[in-house]
Amino acid sequence: MKFIISIIIFVSTSVMANNISTGQQIFEKSCQNCHGVNANKLATPVLHGQIETYLVSQLESFKSGSRIDLLMGKVMNDVAKELSHEEIKSVSAYLASLNPCDYPVTIETLGANLTKGKRAARSCKSCHKKEGNTLNAPIIKRQKTAYLIHSLNAFAAKTRKNSYMQGQAKLLDRTHNVGNVAAYMNAQDFCVVK
Ligand code: HEC
Ligand code: HEC
Repeated sequence: MKFIISIIIFVSTSVMANNISTGQQIFEKSCQNCHGVNANKLATPVLHGQIETYLVSQLESFKSGSRIDLLMGKVMNDVAKELSHEEIKSVSAYLASLNPCDYPVTIETLGANLTKGKRAARSCKSCHKKEGNTLNAPIIKRQKTAYLIHSLNAFAAKTRKNSYMQGQAKLLDRTHNVGNVAAYMNAQDFCVVK
């Protein structure tokens, strides 16, 4: 019995390791140019250490077309269509296995008012946690300011779906806080022990 259990444990951990190394190969071959740590100048999202279920859900949405790449003319939709469901799982497992603190972020305040941003960000905490939440909200702290602004504008314009986020973004837009809250989130480096 013990022997069988050891085999099961061995097989399942090596399947996991396989998934992650396949995911790493996919990332390095097909994603790194746009999402690598050296791709800081692009407004593409940072994916290192993002929540696994969130990554899977977004890749599936790009694949099915329910989320449209609004930044690079549907490139992300073409990329996701090329991936099988298994490959989506592998690349997501790889990215989620990375420690985000191993990857530096560029703090870009873009002239925003961080005090106003902090105040406006009070209502975000309940969902956007480092450990994720049941609604599958992503980690947004340390994310690029330009990408956060792009996403909030897309929700406010309803070109990106999610009725709750559309309401939140509309409110930020009305109170001129999109840039403030984005810069505030970007500057929240949870890797720095204060
Ligand atoms: C040519 C550039 C390009 C390549 C290559 C690319 N992406 Fe993207 N990706 C983007 C852009 C641009 C967006 C943002 C689209 C938007 O929000 O409108 C994006 C968004 C994403 C998101 C959503 C992240 C979030 O926070 O919502 C995920 C996940 C993602 N890409 C994964 C991948 C994976 C995995 C690969 C490789 C298989 C890949 N991308 C290859 C440009 C690219
Ligand atoms: C009730 C939960 C909830 C609250 C509160 C909330 N969000 Fe979200 N947010 C979500 C969910 C869920 C998503 C993912 C939507 C999707 O699947 O596309 C999201 C997505 C986002 C994204 C896109 C990130 C990415 O990687 O593409 C941004 C930016 C964002 N939220 C900012 C905010 C800000 C700023 C606040 C506070 C003003 C806020 N959210 C409050 C649930 C929430």
